[in-house]
Amino acid sequence: MDITILGIESSCDDTSAAVIRNTTMLSNVIASQAVHITYGGVIPELASRAHQQNIIPVVDTALKNAGVTVDKIDAIAFTRGPGLLGSLLVGTSFTKGLAIANNIPMVEVNHLQGHILSHFIDLPDRDMPHPSFPFLCLLVSGGHTQIVKVNSPLEMEIIGSTIDDAAGEAFDKCAKVMGLPYPGGPVIDRLAKEGDASAFKFAKPHVKGEFDYSFSGLKTSFLYTLRDKVAEDPDFVEKNKANLCASLQKTIIDILLDKLIKATKALGIKDVAIAGGVSANSGLREAVAETGRRRGWRTFIPELKFTTDNAAMIAIAGYYRYQQGILSGLDVSPVARLEEIL
Ligand code: KG4
Ligand code: ZN
Repeated sequence: MDITILGIESSCDDTSAAVIRNTTMLSNVIASQAVHITYGGVIPELASRAHQQNIIPVVDTALKNAGVTVDKIDAIAFTRGPGLLGSLLVGTSFTKGLAIANNIPMVEVNHLQGHILSHFIDLPDRDMPHPSFPFLCLLVSGGHTQIVKVNSPLEMEIIGSTIDDAAGEAFDKCAKVMGLPYPGGPVIDRLAKEGDASAFKFAKPHVKGEFDYSFSGLKTSFLYTLRDKVAEDPDFVEKNKANLCASLQKTIIDILLDKLIKATKALGIKDVAIAGGVSANSGLREAVAETGRRRGWRTFIPELKFTTDNAAMIAIAGYYRYQQGILSGLDVSPVARLEEIL
């Protein structure tokens, strides 16, 4: 029997709703919040207010685009965390309201598992290539950087993690120092294409954990380089923007791949996926594909629309949980930190 899931994502600064039938995406609507651009970062209180304004029209559009009415929905999947508590609260409360009013079960989803399971979404006109279990997923987002061993849609082990900043934070914070707009990742990606990646050298971390990451040292190294150079020439950043971006991006990619390669060797796994906002980075996508070709991996690089936050990934994660009968009660509350979920 077909299973139709409405997914709702509101963990950070994108309000999104999607409908999937089994693994096929019927709609995926995302309202991005422009309000944060002025501040150079997400302001939590403004994010929750924008979610409140967006959520009804976004869900309504997702249902209409899918050609589905609420009575055809088998379950509502929503992001329980991790993320900004106020933002998560909007999605969770809205889900409860819709669930009670229409007598539909709710399914909570871990946002990070959603990113990973986006690799199992099919499109109406074509099936997508899916990794085989177990596979390794490099999960790189604004808040997390992890290597995850995925044993099944519901069973995942974090085998490596950042001990400080996430890769996305390294992009965003360094971009901010250069005076680039938020979020910095996509801007650096664009500027890096014009630059020479060997122009500058930044510190690479030595982290104890075999598959763990660290990005705060790189951020400091970047900051010091800029400070010293700007003292000599106030126009340094303006003149060297492309080279700075290219060198920084290359360093981040090298750090990410180094541990990923170690993990594939140690675990003997050759199906390798990337997921999360930073997996939109063109340099990382190319580097993973190229490394895969050299090392005989099957690589899974998500379509751009599934890299950053979206509700289709929440819906597919909800689909697998619903299939196993894992539902959430009305007493469920959102959680900000990953540790509170696992
Ligand atoms: O997964 P995501 O949308 O939200 C979180 O769950 O955190 O990831 C957002 C992060 C931001 O740090 C953003 O700068 C980064 O993804 N990002 C990129 C690119 N597109 C988004 N970083 C590098 N290159 C990109 N093209
Ligand atoms: Zn995310």
